[in-house]
Amino acid sequence: MALTATEDLPRFLRAARGQALDATPVWFMRQAGRYLPEYRAIRARHSLLEICARPAIAAEVTLQPVTRLGVDAAILFADILLPLVPMGLELEFQAGEGPVIHNPVRTGADIDALRTVDVTEALGSVMETIRLVREQLPSDIPLIGFAGAPFTMASYAIEGGSSRTFVETKRLMYTDPDAWHRLLGGMAEVVFDYLRAQVDAGAQAIQLFDSWAGALAEQEYREFVLPHTRLIFERLKPLDVPTIHFGVGTHHMLEAMREAGGDVTGLDWRTPLEEGWRRLGPDASIQGNLDPTLLFAPLPVLRRSVIDLLARAEGRPGHIFNLGHGVLPGTPVENVRAVVDFVHELTA
Ligand code: CP3
Repeated sequence: MALTATEDLPRFLRAARGQALDATPVWFMRQAGRYLPEYRAIRARHSLLEICARPAIAAEVTLQPVTRLGVDAAILFADILLPLVPMGLELEFQAGEGPVIHNPVRTGADIDALRTVDVTEALGSVMETIRLVREQLPSDIPLIGFAGAPFTMASYAIEGGSSRTFVETKRLMYTDPDAWHRLLGGMAEVVFDYLRAQVDAGAQAIQLFDSWAGALAEQEYREFVLPHTRLIFERLKPLDVPTIHFGVGTHHMLEAMREAGGDVTGLDWRTPLEEGWRRLGPDASIQGNLDPTLLFAPLPVLRRSVIDLLARAEGRPGHIFNLGHGVLPGTPVENVRAVVDFVHELTA
């Protein structure tokens, strides 16, 4: 195979740039977490926020799936909601209920009362985690940093937690569009500063999670969200790290998400990969998109699904194998490992 001048770059970074590969790179969203016994052992002694705040522990958890699974990239162990804390939001993770924000923002006055913070300083422990991970990671395994995109972060700040309908979020958007744009503009500033600090600390790629943007119609996304997300990607460009833009249920607005930015577009399991390339263009890099629940299927079924997915990718250099969303709690670890091996074996 003809290799480019960047042949010494790790597989994952070459794929993000759409360059020739020796095998398709694979990693998983939520590859660290509750399905891993070694993570649960640490969680038995520390809360999620404690793990995030303690670099030695967060670094250990980041490295756990690299050792256990043989994936082609590590993702920083942190949470997209961390930057909300220095902004003045009281964040707590409650067992069984997920994240809760005790003082959600609902009005223009609430928004104007948010603190404009130096996230780099407030979240210095995250940068320290990145430095520790980079010291310990094998040189051919890049570290992915990440943040939440303005819409998804704002939805938690406004709803006060997870939501099915996003009624408070949309109410604010329709009722006070000026306040809405101030909030998303502020989020975009914070997110960019945070990501730049992650890159400075050693993150070699960046994923922006707009997990819930698919709750919007394309036209609303374009009007209320896209300009803010685009600003982040524009400002990341000079840092010269590959960027991934991910959302769930965004089938109806993939083109708009790609316009907002990201070298790589993440697809969930509902959009066939070949349709992704048809719509985004043959030069697009695409990440995805095995249904996370397939990891609960018997190995022969799982293997057939991986073969099917790889057939849709047709060996394109811009394919990064991942799930369509994160690994679910209770997922059999050996099945996750098997997918890594299938992908490498079938594409080598
Ligand atoms: O391995 C990795 O992917 C890195 C770590 C990571 C976490 N959260 C740790 C975590 C990443 C990338 C995230 C991103 C995140 N966090 C997103 C975007 C990705 C997605 O899933 O769409 C969102 C929406 C959140 C917010 C969040 N954090 C929720 C809604 C929850 C509760 C739901 C749940 O799964 O429990 C969390 C908690 C959380 N963040 C856990 C982990 C490993 C599980 C908590 C635990 O250990 O108790």
